[in-house]
Amino acid sequence: MKAILLAGGAGTRLRPLTFNTPKPVVPVFNRPLLLYQLDLLRQVPLLDEVILSLNYQPSRIKELLGDGHDLGLKLRYVVEPTPLGTAGALKYAQRYLDETTIVFNGDVLSQVDLPSIVQFHHERAARATIVLTPVEDPSAYGLVETDANANVQRFLEKPTGDQITCNTINAGIYVIETDALDRIPDETNWSTERRFFPELIEHNERFLAFVSSGYWIDIGTPNKYRQVHHDIMDGLFLAPPFDNQPAGTALIAKSAKIDKGVKVEGPCFIDEGVVVNAGSRIGPYTVLGRECTVKDNVQLDGSIVWPHCQIDPGANLVDVILGHDCQIGKDLVLRPGTILGDKSVVTENDSSGA
Ligand code: GDD
Ligand code: MG
Repeated sequence: MKAILLAGGAGTRLRPLTFNTPKPVVPVFNRPLLLYQLDLLRQVPLLDEVILSLNYQPSRIKELLGDGHDLGLKLRYVVEPTPLGTAGALKYAQRYLDETTIVFNGDVLSQVDLPSIVQFHHERAARATIVLTPVEDPSAYGLVETDANANVQRFLEKPTGDQITCNTINAGIYVIETDALDRIPDETNWSTERRFFPELIEHNERFLAFVSSGYWIDIGTPNKYRQVHHDIMDGLFLAPPFDNQPAGTALIAKSAKIDKGVKVEGPCFIDEGVVVNAGSRIGPYTVLGRECTVKDNVQLDGSIVWPHCQIDPGANLVDVILGHDCQIGKDLVLRPGTILGDKSVVTENDSSGA
């Protein structure tokens, strides 16, 4: 059995972070996002290859993940010449797939029981099985209605307020019989959510739902990206690097140099090679990536700072996200929620975002 990770989107909603870092390898703490999904896929018996379906900046992803040997999974990269949409991408990769395929949206993190879902799919002889998760507001997702026997009755992508009839949405995780893709035309932009699924229903194919109550999040927006860090630090989502840590841990890498008198308040994460100077405060839910330098008397709270940033004395950052290699000038106070792309330099005289 093969799995395919749809990882070709441009990550528009996470811009400017995704200008140089495609969404599938955006770091969560110090690991590319895709590694969390590969952790889940590794639990599926008889899965012999994971296909990464890409088109946006594929070489950045290949460089980071290689052939998968170190990750204990065989990886294959399939790069579309132009984006073909979520179903067009599956069709494009069909020749590499076996009889049954696990499909994963590349930006969801979850604690679903994949082996049980595969078993359910086979036992009920489904053509497709979709994982559902309950959410408060389905409008940003695909709404899925089912009957009492778990048959999918209706699939409605991005429903408007008056179309919302239930709280179960498409979790972006499916098991399909690969020949169900025969219906999709070659090299044509095609949507799983707007065409492929509704057509399965129209043709009375056995299309089943499996409701998962485990942790689930789509990290495709800045708020959700920040949220997943909180949830991992709080133990709501048991995942590295906090999976074996007691609540409230300040996780500090061995080679980080934290001056005496720095106040570190957990939960937070300080990666290898970080330097924090005296008088600074690293507040709860802060993430400092590799080799960041935090000068004297800096205040950080709930901010996610990617590797190699420098924060000058007296700066104050609350709920900010900084891309790689940013420089924040002396005494700057950034507005909460500010997101700066790689190599941003904000100085005392620069009012942008300050
Ligand atoms: N290869 C490839 N080609 N991948 C693509 C393409 C494409 O043309 N377009 C999107 N993808 C990938 C994205 O990288 C992402 O991992 C996944 O497909 C889903 O696309 P998103 O753009 O993140 O969709 P969404 O979040 O608005 O909605 C989807 O996910 C929700 C759950 O998170 C839908 O599947 C919803 O129904 C679902 O509820
Ligand atoms: Mg998404």
